[in-house]
Amino acid sequence: VIILFAASAAADEEEEELWSSSFTRHDFPDGFVFGAGTSAYQVEGASDQDGRTPSIFDTFAHSGLTRGANGDIACDQYHKYKEDVELMVETGLDAYRFSISWSRLIPNGRGSVNPKGLEYYNRLIDELLSHGIEPHVTLHHSDLPQALEDEYDGFISRNIIDDFTAYANVCFAVFGDRVKYWTTFNEPNIFILGGYDAGFLPPQRCSYPFGFVNCTKGNSTTEPYLAAHNIMLAHASASRLYRERYRSVQKGQVGLNLFAYYFTPYTNTTEDLLATDRANDFYVGWFLNPILYGDYPETMKKNAGLRLPSFTADESELIKGSMDFLGINFYNTLRVRDNPRSMTTELRDCTADAAAQIIYNQDNTTSSFEFPVAPWGLEGLLQYLKQKYENIPIYIHENGQHLRRNSTLEDLPRVESMRGYIGALLNSVTNGSNVKGYFHWAFLDVFELLDGYESGFGLYYVDLDDPDLRRYPKLSARWYRNFLKAGTMSS
Ligand code: NOJ
Repeated sequence: VIILFAASAAADEEEEELWSSSFTRHDFPDGFVFGAGTSAYQVEGASDQDGRTPSIFDTFAHSGLTRGANGDIACDQYHKYKEDVELMVETGLDAYRFSISWSRLIPNGRGSVNPKGLEYYNRLIDELLSHGIEPHVTLHHSDLPQALEDEYDGFISRNIIDDFTAYANVCFAVFGDRVKYWTTFNEPNIFILGGYDAGFLPPQRCSYPFGFVNCTKGNSTTEPYLAAHNIMLAHASASRLYRERYRSVQKGQVGLNLFAYYFTPYTNTTEDLLATDRANDFYVGWFLNPILYGDYPETMKKNAGLRLPSFTADESELIKGSMDFLGINFYNTLRVRDNPRSMTTELRDCTADAAAQIIYNQDNTTSSFEFPVAPWGLEGLLQYLKQKYENIPIYIHENGQHLRRNSTLEDLPRVESMRGYIGALLNSVTNGSNVKGYFHWAFLDVFELLDGYESGFGLYYVDLDDPDLRRYPKLSARWYRNFLKAGTMSS
């Protein structure tokens, strides 16, 4: 195995400065989890091997919208998982967040289980646990089996509720003796916005005649709300199943994950303050209000009107309280300005843009490719969630830095970002936020949603020109390792 942590003496000196922080991991509460993550389509490869069938993510990637790249091979974790687990051990991770490919486990979306798929996830889970690494598993990360999309338009149909619950049932039954942290859906708010409203993500529905992509399928005025409604019911149904059938023996937890910005008002005018509230509601309240309180936020009801489905009393009861923890994917802080024109003159219906104009922070001094680092934004978001949503337990499921892939292994901006955001988490925990863990996105330079292989979010670089797809630690992997191993800088 290729672990290249050894640094030269000169580099060591420079790095000593870099490694020094005003905090250590020991300042976090006992049991606080530090990990890193990936998702099935983005990392596994082996897309047509051992019985796996295509997902909507495969179809999307093969449509040419991801810079001509796809995840057919990706990082080939399907074959290299042992090597990757070894790197996780070297890095000092407590936990690994990954997702199960539904169409690898159940190739037709429903019905018989693929023994090879089952075997793969069993081996991965066992490998992690035998090295003391806790699996945190997501069931759906933008990769619905294409068979279900073709059969009944996937999340547009209520059929998805039973099929997702049956898939979750298989996962709980076969992996639940060892997996204790389940996330039903990865950032459904972005999945909906990209896949059913703006059309830039799978399954590429939107019905716009122009725009980011030319969507010919869909109906963007109603479908985003409908698909989100069905996703919530599918989540809640799987969560109820877990509680009724598995929880007492397996003693695990079921959560849901959302993408979140920290939104701040552009000015202190009432209009901008209200626009900021709407932006929050259209992003996270959309899911959190029903899950915490049983219904959609008032701002959404008012702005979306009849396009927003209503919960029946049974649905409301099913969904309310259906989450043991909230996963948050956090990357950016934005400022929000009211834009009254957007509701009438723009075609985008369900996004926060429909209710407000969103503007990048003015103190954004970096390029648009690289995310500006604003640790105060993460603190602000956690404070907002704590106050509005009953201080529900939170895992930061994703946080990371968008850098060009082939630039350098010396990814200083990523180190600065990690140090800033992990420090922000410590402040938040000290201030009473119920944050339980941090997962860096990503463990490796995985196939990226829109950039293909042009960006590299990873702690580890993967050499795609090398037939062995060798992995190389970046500076950030070494920084994280030093932080996690708390001051033991032996290489
Ligand atoms: C969100 C998604 O969950 C993940 O798939 C993606 O690669 C990262 N954020 C970065 O864009």
